[in-house]
Amino acid sequence: MSSEGLVRLPILHSVAEFASAAAALGLDLPLDAADAPDVSALAEPIFVYGRQAANRFCIHPMEGWDGTPDGRPTELTARRWERFGRSGAGLIWGGEAVAVRHGGRANPHQLVLRTDTAPDLEAILQRLLKAYQEATGSDGRPVVGLQLTHSGRYCRPSAWDRPEPCIAANHPILDARMGLPSDTAPVSDGWIRSLIEDTARAAALAHRIGFDFVDLKHCHGYFGHELLGALHRPGGYGGCWENRTRYLRELVQAVRSSAPGLGLAVRFSAFDTVPFMPDPYRSEPGKPGPGIPVPHCHCVPYEYGFGVDRDAPTDIDLSEPVRFMELLGQLGVGAANITGGSPYYNPHIQRPALYPPSDGYAPPEDPLIGVARHMHVTRALKAVGAGPLVVGTAYTYLQDFLPNVAAAAVAQGWTDFVGLGRMVLSYPGMPLDVLEGRLDRKRICRTFSDCTTAPRNGLPSGCYPLDENYKRSPEARLLAERKSSARSSR
Ligand SMILES: Cc1cc2nc3c(=O)[nH]c(=O)nc-3n(C[C@H](O)[C@H](O)[C@H](O)COP(=O)(O)O)c2cc1C
Repeated sequence: MSSEGLVRLPILHSVAEFASAAAALGLDLPLDAADAPDVSALAEPIFVYGRQAANRFCIHPMEGWDGTPDGRPTELTARRWERFGRSGAGLIWGGEAVAVRHGGRANPHQLVLRTDTAPDLEAILQRLLKAYQEATGSDGRPVVGLQLTHSGRYCRPSAWDRPEPCIAANHPILDARMGLPSDTAPVSDGWIRSLIEDTARAAALAHRIGFDFVDLKHCHGYFGHELLGALHRPGGYGGCWENRTRYLRELVQAVRSSAPGLGLAVRFSAFDTVPFMPDPYRSEPGKPGPGIPVPHCHCVPYEYGFGVDRDAPTDIDLSEPVRFMELLGQLGVGAANITGGSPYYNPHIQRPALYPPSDGYAPPEDPLIGVARHMHVTRALKAVGAGPLVVGTAYTYLQDFLPNVAAAAVAQGWTDFVGLGRMVLSYPGMPLDVLEGRLDRKRICRTFSDCTTAPRNGLPSGCYPLDENYKRSPEARLLAERKSSARSSR
């Protein structure tokens, strides 16, 4: 699809125009069509882990690639967490991905939770809580969790451009893309057991320093997610359903015994597709073509993904994700954050955007279709009624119409919480503004993807177009230079 054919949300004048554009794309989206939507459902408090969340906004984990080499937060990290608190959102999901061991870091600036870094994380949690109280004028607090991670295939703990993958299973397309020999050995079952121990240790620290819950991450192509689709993995953690979910079950058990009383949550990629690439026939120098699925006939039946139809792997199959929700309920996991795909191999699925990141491709579909896909999957998984509260993802692309869709989504029971990712980087005050019937259009994220392009080039993430702190930084100049040299060298 050429970007000319896409709906340009910033130039729509009214909710009615948005409704017509969505209908023209054949989309069924919940929508409060009033210019001033009824936000009462968004403002409804709800109990999570025995604590009251003041409203139905959730701040997704948003990593900044700005920790110290030994895994501690910097002032930039603290600033981001303060802004998460200032949002006034009732639920803060993780702050960001925090590695449970050095080798599991996705980049050398990712935070690591160890005994000696725990006080630093406690300090930024306290700053977040204080910022929440200042912004809301209350003495309450949001419900806050920490996302615990191991980046698996995407580990780069030592240098941003030096992969040190720990694969859960071989993947013919991704192994080839990463230059891994096809006989590269997946990590052993013993390695997985030691990761569970490290995660349980980190969870106990998170509990001690004041987090309400931990997210046992299973999303975005990282370790836990890759394991869910590891049909070819031999041993105790691959192959059948029982084995592929053993990691989750053992994690839950280990965290329960290391941190009794700590809330448990899981963010998982509930749907996926094959890896995508820019269409070489429609790419020009400096301008990647629209994304197309990489050739994958040789991989069908597709036994390398989760939430995909094995016979037609560009289609979704929710039968296992539904079972996964049921399992989360049986395990007493209190909340599930529903996401999809991976930023590494199909970013348009994971975070619908008008402009691609530097390692991406032009949109293969109208990004609104991607938003609707997320919302329908979330609605279907919430309808399972398995028990966990549900957080929806990919609302940022809705831009000016986010309040209208979000209000209706919660009111009509499509989701319990509306998650905000990229939007919180440009416009941290959005939740409180929406609840008070305001919107600052100048702060709305327009999905330029610089927050992804910067870290892909070894720079900290942030909203370079709209947040003055990044816009005026020396890194902004470096980012512009790297983008321009990438354009001319293509
Ligand atoms: C800069 C950046 C950092 C992110 N960091 C994380 C992270 O640490 N953990 C995670 O689960 N997702 C992470 N995500 C994904 C977001 O949480 C979210 O799923 C995604 O941006 C889609 O939501 P949105 O449309 O509201 O932006 C990140 C995304 C971006 C753009």
